[in-house]
Amino acid sequence: MTTSIAARRLSLLFAAASVLIASSAPALSVEPSIEVSIAPGRQAQLKYLLAQDCGSCHGMTRKGGLGPALLPDNLAGKPDQLLVATILDGRTGTAMPPWRGQLTEAEAAWLVQQLRRGVE
Ligand code: HEC
Repeated sequence: MTTSIAARRLSLLFAAASVLIASSAPALSVEPSIEVSIAPGRQAQLKYLLAQDCGSCHGMTRKGGLGPALLPDNLAGKPDQLLVATILDGRTGTAMPPWRGQLTEAEAAWLVQQLRRGVE
């Protein structure tokens, strides 16, 4: 009887310890990563848009042209929100046009995710 109480106390202690460990672990959102789910058919359209429309300025392989290169290294350190806002609203005074109306916020976020991954 005494042993089983001791065992239960011990397992409670372990549970408390693991909660402590979990809460002191660094937050997962340090490097914000967007996980957006877009239907496969729409993904294909967005990839086409990226290569053709965005590619007309940023280059089909996104190495830059009229617009800057959009390779992972170029975007490193730039917050997701800034990039999503740039895609949706464009940048006043530059050639970067707004895509709001053609793209939802989730789709713009998905595009940023693709750019960061450096898809072909
Ligand atoms: C007509 C030309 C043009 C088209 C088309 C275009 N862009 Fe741009 N884009 C630009 C220019 C120019 C800039 C740089 C603006 C500046 O000077 O800040 C830019 C900036 C950006 C940035 C910010 C880059 C950074 O380093 O801050 C992103 C992201 C971006 N474009 C994504 C896209 C996407 C995605 C598309 C297609 C949906 C697209 N662009 C289509 C011209 C274009």
